[in-house]
Amino acid sequence: MTLLQAATDVRTRAYAPYSNFLVGAAIRATSGAVHVGCNVENVAYPEGTCAEAGAIAAMIAAGDTRIAEVFVIADSPSPVPPCGGCRQKLAEFADPSVKVTLCTTAGAQLTMTVAELLPGQFTAAHMAKG
Ligand code: THU
Repeated sequence: MTLLQAATDVRTRAYAPYSNFLVGAAIRATSGAVHVGCNVENVAYPEGTCAEAGAIAAMIAAGDTRIAEVFVIADSPSPVPPCGGCRQKLAEFADPSVKVTLCTTAGAQLTMTVAELLPGQFTAAHMAKG
């Protein structure tokens, strides 16, 4: 199964009764294993979680720690961009050159790198006094 197929498949299981905006994400870890996630909303809206966060949680729970490639898909008019928080979450586990492909259910795709998604990212180095 390709990452696009995995993201498309998990998207159908998203829990999004408040936004009705279903999102699927699939991560290929550097081990080769694929981890998936979908958005899971909550009636207390801020408690909802994004598809990317779910896929990262699944990756960590499975024992992988580094991301090799990501696909995200939604029924959006243009390729769905990860939210700001998810950009920082992806950057925690992915090198700047890692490709993130943003997709629509209609078939459009836009591939960006983690560095392009999050220029000037906050890193552990910013906590060093030097
Ligand atoms: N959402 C994601 O899961 N990932 C994104 O990249 C963008 C937004 C979700 C969060 C919420 O459940 C719904 O989409 C609407 O914001």
